[in-house]
Parts: sequence; C-alpha cells; structure tokens
Amino acid sequence: MIARSFKSGSRRCLSPLCVVFALLIAGCNADLPGKPNPKERPIPAEKVLAFDVLYSRNCAGCHGKDGKQGPAPPLNDPLFRAIVPADELEKVVSQGRPGTPMAAFAHRNGGSLTAVQVQVLVNEIKGVRYRIVDERAEGKANVDLVADDEGIMPKWGAVAPAAPSIPSYGLAKTNGNDAHGAEIFAQACASCHGNNGKGVVKDGKRLNKINDPAFLALISDQAIRRIIITGRLDLKMPDYSQSQGRVDDFQPLTSTDITDLVALLASWRRASPTAAE
Ligand code: HEC
Ligand code: HEC
Repeated sequence: MIARSFKSGSRRCLSPLCVVFALLIAGCNADLPGKPNPKERPIPAEKVLAFDVLYSRNCAGCHGKDGKQGPAPPLNDPLFRAIVPADELEKVVSQGRPGTPMAAFAHRNGGSLTAVQVQVLVNEIKGVRYRIVDERAEGKANVDLVADDEGIMPKWGAVAPAAPSIPSYGLAKTNGNDAHGAEIFAQACASCHGNNGKGVVKDGKRLNKINDPAFLALISDQAIRRIIITGRLDLKMPDYSQSQGRVDDFQPLTSTDITDLVALLASWRRASPTAAE
C-alpha cells in the first residue's frame, strides 16, 4: 500500500546523528543572552526571500529535499513545471488544497508567507527569472518581484515550454467515463498497481495499492490527473507517454483517457466508507 507520512519534517533524517545535527543547528539560531550581535541575528522569517531557505523551511518536508522523492507530488519535475499554469501555482500555494495535506501559505489565508515570498516560490517552480525590487532601505514599505530575463536564475533551471501534444494540467469541465477509465487502467496501470488498483504482491508484500480509502481520501482529483500525466519519475512510475511496464501496443494517454482514469479513481473513492468528500 502507499503509505504517505506528511508529519515528519524529513523522510530520511531520523537517525540519532541527524537529530544531534538538527539540535546543533537549532542552537546556533537561538539568540544567546549576553551576546548581542545584530549582524548575526537571523533574518526575520517574513523577510526571507532566498528560495533555498523558503523552500527548505516550508515545503521540503512534504515535497522532498530537491523537489523530489517526498510523500507529496514532486515539484521539481520538468513536465509538471512546463504544464502547470503560474496562476494555478499561485493559487495552490496561497490557498492550499482543502481536504488534502496541502495547507494555505499566504498571510491573508492564515499562513506564514508574504505575497512576495509566494511569488518567489511561483517563479522558481515555473522557471521564470526574476528580480526583487526592495525599496525598504529608502524608507518605503515596498518589496516587489518582477520578471527579468537577466535576473535570478531559478535553482531548478529554466523550463522548456510544453509541447501542444502534452495533455493539459487542468481537470476537464465534463465528467469522465469511469467504465472507459477501467479499460485504460487495465492496459496502462494494472501491471504495476494490480487489477482494480488493489496492488501487486512481491516477496509476500503488497505493493503500489492505490484503491485504498486512506490514500484516496487525502488526494484531490487534480493531483491524480497530474500524477497520471507526469508519472512519478522519482519513484519509477512512467509518465503519460512512456511505455515501460505497459501493454505492448501502448499508445500515449490522451487527455480524455486521463479524464476517464480520474473518474475511475474518484469512483473508488466514493465507494469507500471512510472517504472524506
Ligand atoms: C504537509 C505537507 C505539505 C507541505 C508542507 C507543502 N505541501 Fe504542497 N502539497 C502537498 C500535497 C499532499 C499536495 C497534493 C494535494 C492534492 O491532493 O491536490 C500538494 C500540492 C502542491 C502543489 C500542486 C501540485 C500538483 O501536482 O498539482 C503545489 C504547487 C505545492 N503543493 C506547492 C507547495 C509549496 C511551494 C510548499 C511550501 C511553501 C508546499 N507545497 C508545502 C503537501 C504539502
Ligand atoms: C511501471 C509501473 C507503473 C505504472 C505502469 C503505473 N504506475 Fe503508478 N506508481 C508506480 C510506482 C512505483 C508508484 C509509487 C508507489 C509508492 O510510492 O510506493 C506509483 C504511484 C502512483 C500513485 C500515487 C502517487 C503519489 O504521489 O502518491 C498514483 C495515483 C498512481 N501511481 C496512479 C497510476 C495510474 C492511474 C497509472 C496508469 C495510468 C499508473 N499509476 C501506472 C508505478 C507505476
């Protein structure tokens, strides 16, 4: 089964050595009484504009250290970065995804990030170079972010535009056909996820179960669509067009195929008594 733990800060760092290291870091950040040194004082959280710091403090625990291999969908994925619209990124980070572990981060929604900090994250994920316009030194309150071809290069690099043949990120406006979704599932998913998503048994263990109430209750249809398009290359799940582990005459999934697969998984979610809908 797919176990997702969103509580721990990091998936990997639970060894005693890590804990000691974490305590050391925490100790260094503390303001020691009797040793005032304004230069060494940490930048207040709401003034941090460096992507590394923003990302590692707020996002890495779920989305993975470098945007991969975390319990939540990878953000550092070329296909995802190409197809996700910038305004959708802004919306998700600001407002969260209700009903899922993705919380709202914008101040105005009770989160911890300013509008400019959200913009830094959006530009970095979308691969758009930018410049920070900070007029605070001149006594004004204004801090702004503007796109600039010569500005800061996003840490995960630039993003090639999405080819028109790639299925679009957004959910279809019409309902999918779950019966057709079941046919596609048998060809494109069942080899790894088992008949009806019940998982496959390997060395006595059941793996990759996705027809699972606890899993489906916490993932949105939008995230399911996105995972089917991008796969999870960090966990060896192929994207919508790759044929490995699929039937011999596999053809890239179309936007309609994906809509129907989402309808199928949504029907499994509805069928389970603990679903949070
Ligand atoms: C507690 C865990 C957690 C934290 C912390 C978190 N996220 Fe998420 N995030 C999730 C989950 C889970 C989803 C998928 C939600 C869904 O089912 O739609 C998600 C979805 C997203 C998406 C949409 C991805 C997609 O596939 O469509 C973006 C963008 C995103 N998060 C950005 C961020 C950023 C930026 C931060 C840090 C400011 C952050 N998240 C912090 C858990 C988290
Ligand atoms: C070649 C094997 C393979 C194929 C084919 C495959 N997957 Fe996966 N899938 C995986 C693996 C591996 C994971 C990660 C499992 C884990 O986290 O333990 C995964 C994870 C998932 C997840 C959970 C993602 C997450 O972020 O939690 C969903 C949903 C999913 N697959 C749906 C599908 C659907 C729908 C199809 C068919 C269109 C499909 N998969 C085809 C191997 C595959």
